[in-house]
Amino acid sequence: MNNQKILKKDILIIGTGIAGCVAALKLSEMKSVNVLLVTKDADITQASTLYAQGGIIERGPNDSAEKLKKDILVAGDGLCNEKAVDILANEGPDLVQKILIENVRVQFSTKNGTLDYTKEAAHSKNRILYKNDHSGQEIETKLVEVIKKKKNIEILTNCTLIDLLTLPHHAIDRRKVYENQKCVGGYLLDNETGNVKTVIAKKIILATGGIGQVFLRTTNPKVITGDGLAAASRAGVDIINAEFVQFHPTSLFHRDLDNFLISESVRGEGAELKNEKGELFMKKYDKRGSLAPRDIVARGIYQEILMGRKEFVYLDLKSYMSKEYIINRFPLIYKTCLDLGIDITKEMIPVVPTVHYHCGGIKVDEFGKSSLENLYALGEVSCTGVHGANRLASNSLLEGLVWANQAAEDIKANLSNSNLVAEEDVKSWEYIGEKIADLALIKQDWMSVKSVMWNYVGIVRSQERLERAVLDLNYLKHRIEKFYRDVRLNKDILELRSGVQSALVVAEAAKKNRESSGCHYIIN
Ligand code: SIN
Repeated sequence: MNNQKILKKDILIIGTGIAGCVAALKLSEMKSVNVLLVTKDADITQASTLYAQGGIIERGPNDSAEKLKKDILVAGDGLCNEKAVDILANEGPDLVQKILIENVRVQFSTKNGTLDYTKEAAHSKNRILYKNDHSGQEIETKLVEVIKKKKNIEILTNCTLIDLLTLPHHAIDRRKVYENQKCVGGYLLDNETGNVKTVIAKKIILATGGIGQVFLRTTNPKVITGDGLAAASRAGVDIINAEFVQFHPTSLFHRDLDNFLISESVRGEGAELKNEKGELFMKKYDKRGSLAPRDIVARGIYQEILMGRKEFVYLDLKSYMSKEYIINRFPLIYKTCLDLGIDITKEMIPVVPTVHYHCGGIKVDEFGKSSLENLYALGEVSCTGVHGANRLASNSLLEGLVWANQAAEDIKANLSNSNLVAEEDVKSWEYIGEKIADLALIKQDWMSVKSVMWNYVGIVRSQERLERAVLDLNYLKHRIEKFYRDVRLNKDILELRSGVQSALVVAEAAKKNRESSGCHYIIN
């Protein structure tokens, strides 16, 4: 079987959250340039951005770049890259205005006719623009609307990244080993036909989001299986800070709805965490109480759950906000909980910490450039160093926006010096496996990966747990790699292969780092 099609594009972007979409939008300003924007889902909006509730940092009253920088550095537990933080704090607010508000026409919530700013944990100022409690939905859907109108952006849905196309690895001429390694495109599986498309591009951007689905419980959508991180790792690209996996302190604990996020802005607006005895416990762990940085709050909750009889703690809105305020400010959370039988205007919400954000990733510079020539990484799959060991709330959408802009500017300035690799110089995809993958095996392998990560690479880690994690994941990776080679390609097997590879990247980094900082907390 060889129904391969070679596509030639100037820019290949994989991932359609804020980072991928803004990069595409900015690059489409070069009228002679064609951009291919790819998502593995049938629905282009399926990305973590769509599920972001809290909002995006801008600049609130009596605020400044210096104040924001200070808050980021404190949350990051001393491990942030100050150069990257300066870029974000200085450039970010203007880009929110120019790109999101003026160009894309995102409508943030207002009060008395002017933009309203909210606060979340570890922020010293109200500086977050939001749209009630579904800010990401507003941003993502508006971005996609604009992108769909651009003639030089081709959108490819239902296509899953198999591997980056790199030289000399995929070169036909073996003498390419004498040249520098570079990325020249990607192999994509058409999920519907099972055919592989080889895409050749001058610049390749990974914007595939994080790794949430490699854990048992996560706020991330189903599509977030670590595809970009795994592909980069296979291509030998530098990855840093991979051990820093952030848990969101408050996701809904409920039998019928897994992992629904209860935005930190709920605490920002005054709600409090209480244990099963109704006690305000967070001050025991940090003087900032329920508004301490996320890593501290998540560990506080973990500790209370360990000491108590219940598997959750409570988030109390009703004692601190009026019914009307709750319903208007948090309509999605109110309605979702009410549908499950919890009236949050009268009852407390049972909550637990779940995996939320990967602070580490593909090492990139101030323009989103990775260690591999032609390859850029943006948003959660990347590590600019802005977040250090723990991300400040509502900073992720901003980082995606800022680095998408930085990368687009860099590509615009340098694209004329880049050439496409010749089609006949790269190997076409070799189909090997023919068997149909057994879904029961895929499900069980996923369960194994997820429970190893949850139990051994979780909120609290130990050397013994991490050693086991690395051993178990190495075994699983070998088995899954063989499985992948034996079967006919489909999206499920590709996601599993990415999942186990990304899980191993995180577990190995955690095992190597014996020092606790931010969200890497190790007890011995
Ligand atoms: C939230 O709404 O709590 C999530 C915001 C974020 O992760 O920055």
